[in-house]
Amino acid sequence: MGPKILITGSTGFIGRVVSRVLADRGYSIRLLLRPSDRRSRLPVPRVEAVVASFQDEGGIRAAVAGVDSIIHLASAEGEHRRRDLFAVDVEGTRSLLTQARASGVRRILYLSHLGADRSSAFPFLQAKGIAEHAVIESGIPYLILRSSLVYGAGDSFTNAVAFFARLLPAAYFIPEMDTHMQPLWVEDLAACMEYCLAENRYFGEILSIGGPEHLSFEQVVEVVLDAIRTPRMIVRVWPPLARFSLGVMDWILPHSPFTPFWMDYLAVPSTCEANSLSRLFGVKPASIREPLGYLRRNRGIRRLLQYVWRGNEVMQDF
Ligand SMILES: NC(=O)c1ccc[n+]([C@@H]2O[C@H](COP(=O)([O-])OP(=O)(O)OC[C@H]3O[C@@H](n4cnc5c(N)ncnc54)[C@H](OP(=O)(O)O)[C@@H]3O)[C@@H](O)[C@H]2O)c1
Repeated sequence: MGPKILITGSTGFIGRVVSRVLADRGYSIRLLLRPSDRRSRLPVPRVEAVVASFQDEGGIRAAVAGVDSIIHLASAEGEHRRRDLFAVDVEGTRSLLTQARASGVRRILYLSHLGADRSSAFPFLQAKGIAEHAVIESGIPYLILRSSLVYGAGDSFTNAVAFFARLLPAAYFIPEMDTHMQPLWVEDLAACMEYCLAENRYFGEILSIGGPEHLSFEQVVEVVLDAIRTPRMIVRVWPPLARFSLGVMDWILPHSPFTPFWMDYLAVPSTCEANSLSRLFGVKPASIREPLGYLRRNRGIRRLLQYVWRGNEVMQDF
């Protein structure tokens, strides 16, 4: 077993895949889990874990003790509230960095978003920008990967698009916005992270990454509708009306498939070089048309209701 890697956010959509990939490659990993009434659904069996909240100084100290590298993925983006976002993504990151520096952690890999900016008007991009700044200022050798939207089994992106299609007959409503994104398959992202750790490359840099295609949201919806063989007429609606409708859904449903942050994702272009993965990591990225088979497994009204009730963890049962 090599040097220890601490993974935060390992129970999330990306964290589960990254943890599995690193464990499969023989890395020695430790997971930071947050305290919860629910039993944590570990991404890999029989793995070392520390349960601590970011406010628990002693717990975080124990989590980083003896750790060589950190992959920091914990985020409250899925919680839908600005307050949580700043408490976890900003203050949580600061608390982790303080203990990591004191414990002599050698390097940290932080996953951020394309468009992250401390002065952004959009809360999730602003939170990411502030967290990035804290990482850079920490004095710990860092690598920041700024990614476009990531998709794959268990995501809350393509699954949400597919659910919405199954919910409404005939028409599919999208906001009238033509910003582009570059969907990145989660397995490709994990491969890039593994490359950076293994080669110890790009530390000290901020890299922009995305999948091989620049697509509008409308094009992504068309690809998903095609993958689930659910033809719908796409209807473009006035963005303020779309934002209002998402707000209402979020207010009414225990877990809305779409967070209010969705409109923010669509408001800011999330693109970079189309060949970023092959150029930087020698990874040939999947086209979004290739890996969407997982969407066909999540069929049926029962699963839709489970999703609305329990949230994205339903997806991760697969
Ligand atoms: N998904 C994308 O398209 C995308 C694109 C670019 C960058 N990113 C960034 O990548 C990271 C991971 O994204 P994701 O999609 O995997 O997110 P996710 O599925 O929502 O997972 C979030 C993770 O953070 C943990 N977490 C939430 N609140 C926490 C708290 N208070 N204390 C400790 N842990 C907490 C969650 O733990 P529980 O399981 O206990 O809730 C979960 O493990 C995030 O920083 C996100 O901003 C994501």
